[in-house]
Amino acid sequence: MKGIVLAGGLGTRLRPLTAVTNKHLLPVYDRPMVYYPIETLVNAGVRDIMIVTGGNSAGDFLRLLKNGREFGLRHLNYTYQEGEGGIAAALSLCEEFADGQPVCVVLGDNIIERNICRAVRSYRHQGGGAKILLKKVQDPQRFGVPELDGRRVVRIEEKPEEPKSEYAVIGVYMYDSDVFEIIKTLKPSGRGELEITDVNNAYIGRGEMTWDELEGWWTDAGTFESLLRASNLVAETGANKMDD
Ligand code: DAU
Repeated sequence: MKGIVLAGGLGTRLRPLTAVTNKHLLPVYDRPMVYYPIETLVNAGVRDIMIVTGGNSAGDFLRLLKNGREFGLRHLNYTYQEGEGGIAAALSLCEEFADGQPVCVVLGDNIIERNICRAVRSYRHQGGGAKILLKKVQDPQRFGVPELDGRRVVRIEEKPEEPKSEYAVIGVYMYDSDVFEIIKTLKPSGRGELEITDVNNAYIGRGEMTWDELEGWWTDAGTFESLLRASNLVAETGANKMDD
């Protein structure tokens, strides 16, 4: 399985912090934000990783991460997203890199307390399709929100005014190589982006989507409130723990 960290976009919700640098280079407690999703993948045994960057300061990623030796890697791959076409548009840049293999995609501003080892193991046994991870949150309307029918996810709505569950779809997604064909069929949403939620709904429509509930805390870090929350959570308990 190959790993992809999506660290493009313009980080407009964090201006002026992102006026001259990329959101994923901002500090979350004692490390740059992008360290956390890379470590999430490495801890799950994913060693071939692509960083999709964009916007300001793309060259700083190379200077910061180099070949990933700090993460125990021998090599890192980089690509550049022009503009802010959405999460699915950023993922589409990785088709050649994926080379027909399944991928584990982590959003560059998502931070977890523990690890995704169990989910990755169960996805490997699934033998195709997609898997998402869910977490109960206080403010589901900020996220992709699933409608559930027992173990089955019926549909996901992006930032719904009236959420159909208390869960958020977190920014960790596992897909087979069909994902790139699915992205080619997407149309931009109301906010002008190719939405990852539309990708997930396509897999749900095919009956090829499974989900697990994430253990430990999860947060994004793309707003002032969540960036502060992320720093406080990491300072209090640490992130990407391997104790299971
Ligand atoms: O954090 C989880 C949520 O992330 C999900 O629940 C939502 O379904 C999903 O749409 C996404 O929501 P956001 O609106 O919070 O995503 P945001 O635009 O903040 O982008 C998240 C990351 O994705 C960002 O840190 C970098 C990457 N990204 C985003 C865009 C729009 C890119 O690489 N390129 C892009 O064009």
